[in-house]
Amino acid sequence: MKNTQEIKETALAAADIIRERAPGFTATKAIVLGSGLGPLVEALRDAVAISYSDLPGFPRPSVEGHAGTLHLGTLGGQAVFMMQGRSHYYESGRPDGMKTALLALRELGVKTLFLTNAAGSLLEETGPGELILIKDHINYSGLNPLIGESGSERFIDMTTAYDETIRSGLKRSAFELDIPLTEGVYMWFSGPSFETPAEINMARVLGADAVGMSTVPEVIYGRFLGMKIAGVSIVTNYAAGMNDEPLSHEQTMDNADRAAQNFQRILIQYLESLS
Ligand code: HPA
Repeated sequence: MKNTQEIKETALAAADIIRERAPGFTATKAIVLGSGLGPLVEALRDAVAISYSDLPGFPRPSVEGHAGTLHLGTLGGQAVFMMQGRSHYYESGRPDGMKTALLALRELGVKTLFLTNAAGSLLEETGPGELILIKDHINYSGLNPLIGESGSERFIDMTTAYDETIRSGLKRSAFELDIPLTEGVYMWFSGPSFETPAEINMARVLGADAVGMSTVPEVIYGRFLGMKIAGVSIVTNYAAGMNDEPLSHEQTMDNADRAAQNFQRILIQYLESLS
């Protein structure tokens, strides 16, 4: 794990490069695009794209379907950053892979973080192609990106990690568009293997509605940085053991489309409602 000072310096260097590439651009919102949500960047207007490889400390995604590009532009009338591609714990064995990128975004003025992911659903009534609005999470991996931080700031309150006002706004936008948006609890498994049916039974007993391999470390670090957080899962499959479908990354991607399009409509409607 890099030390805090190194991360800060790297984040400031990345922020300087972003400022140079898009002079005068400011945005208070950032959206992290999970598996299958990449096409959302096509809805951006006046977009500038910067490859992560030009940005020190940004992740180097190794997963198919996760590009590695930071986009700046306007969506639903609001200036936004979009991170197309994230790092996952299972790629590196480290839970801090997104710290530098999130710190750079905070340095650039980001105050609200929209996190998206692909997830398996434990809800019979919310199947592949549907959306789950995350209202809380269970950090089942036990890992934490704040390990190694010092001072009392690291003891962050997670009681209202998923901002209630933003959740209400997203639910209202979904309702206006007639798109079902169930709220649920997301449980973070380290991956990369999918869960076993026994693990899914356990997750259900513990209160999970969705399972996935990302997002939670970004929520924790985003809260540490004082950002407001929203999280949405696109359901790509029923969780292991709920039906006879074999689980694979390809199947995950195939089912993402409808949910991604619906998420895009909800997000644009929500952003428009803010102006
Ligand atoms: N489990 C974990 N991660 C996932 C799943 C799943 O069933 N589907 C998509 N990402």
